[in-house]
Amino acid sequence: SGDVVRRERFSGGPARGFLSSLDADERIFRADLQVDRAHVVMLAEQGIVGDDEAGEILAALGEVEAAGHGALPDGEDVHAAIETAVIDRIGPVGGKMHTARSRNDEVATCLRHRLRADALALAGTVVGVRETLCAVAESHTTTVMPGFTHLQPAQPTTVAHYLLSYESALARDTERLLAAYDRTNRSPLGAAAFAGTTFDVDRERVADLLGFDGVVENSMDASSARDFLTETAAAAAALATTLSGLAEDLVVFANKGYVDLDDDYASTSSIMPQKKNPDTLELVRAVAGDASAGLNGVLTTLKGLPRAYNRDLQRAHGHAFDAVDAVADATEVAGGAVATADWNGAALADAAGEGFSTATGVADLLAAGGMPFRTAHEIVAGAAERLDGGDELAAVEAAAEDAGVDLDAYVEHAALEAALDPAESVAARDSHGGPAPAAVEGALDRAAGDI
Ligand code: ARG
Repeated sequence: SGDVVRRERFSGGPARGFLSSLDADERIFRADLQVDRAHVVMLAEQGIVGDDEAGEILAALGEVEAAGHGALPDGEDVHAAIETAVIDRIGPVGGKMHTARSRNDEVATCLRHRLRADALALAGTVVGVRETLCAVAESHTTTVMPGFTHLQPAQPTTVAHYLLSYESALARDTERLLAAYDRTNRSPLGAAAFAGTTFDVDRERVADLLGFDGVVENSMDASSARDFLTETAAAAAALATTLSGLAEDLVVFANKGYVDLDDDYASTSSIMPQKKNPDTLELVRAVAGDASAGLNGVLTTLKGLPRAYNRDLQRAHGHAFDAVDAVADATEVAGGAVATADWNGAALADAAGEGFSTATGVADLLAAGGMPFRTAHEIVAGAAERLDGGDELAAVEAAAEDAGVDLDAYVEHAALEAALDPAESVAARDSHGGPAPAAVEGALDRAAGDI
């Protein structure tokens, strides 16, 4: 029989281990059993195999599942090994399972079946982190902190506004994962090797049994396409890049004493007893490297492959699974670190006004009073130059005098003083999406509605 020939063809030789994907295929062991079941049910419904034969095969598949991946006979891959295990149990009739299909459409189906579950689980984890960010933000809408550009104090903001900036980014990362999920969630089964089959298969029925949203229509595309790996790895890499920024900020903020990481998310030194290091977040930061490496692994493996199936494909999906695994761990840890961290309100308030961070607010105030913004910018820049740790108000007044400008014509003294206060400065920036507590409350409501 064909099975005997195939098993003989994979009989040995120095390349045996190199050819086999059986170990790595453990990841799709359960998916393959589901795919086998759906295919056999369809074959029976279509009258391609007898009901009794299908029953025998399904019973054998149950035993194979109970025995586990580790109990499979040796084989070129999980698909061959499961088929062998079925035939070992029920004899040649087990060979009917592979009617009207190929391992090419079979593996593509298994990969989509497994990766869609992983993508969905990852999206769920991201949603959990977004909930955490919102919950922490909720209690920090008035916790003023310095905001940075180029790592320099730029303008005061709040911890809530800062955290919600990552919630927004993670909302897009969630959408990207779900978009990848949608295109992954299609069934290639019934494409056979690539050229379809003479049997009267019902591809939609198999897709339905496996919970897919439909079929990948063109049979050559169905067995060859792996862009679902690209998309999912890309979504994971984009997510990891978002998390790496959050992790980097928290490493810096912890270093400055703005935030205290929980001991569960810190590590110590084997030699320096006083150390509390933000190692978990440094690893989260590093996972962006794993993820982009995974994406690159997928892309460079797929690049230039001719139609239709080529064995290169066996080495493509591992990159995507590895990327998704690393990013899932990093997402979980980043969420835990944020959930358990303590924001040091006093240190943040002290730092919020550092480096004349209210300068833009002062210029805005002068401009609101009718001074051209560029003139206001020049006067406040002059104040910043002469400031040198001194009184900001005095510096602004002196700079205005130098420029021959009468400040009183543009602004009340009290308003100027308020603009120099970081908390007032934040409260005044209540534009849509801005850091003012009222604006952030609105953003929190919208985020809660989205999640
Ligand atoms: N294990 C293979 C893979 O992962 C599927 C087998 C198809 N093999 C073949 N020679 N057509 O891609």
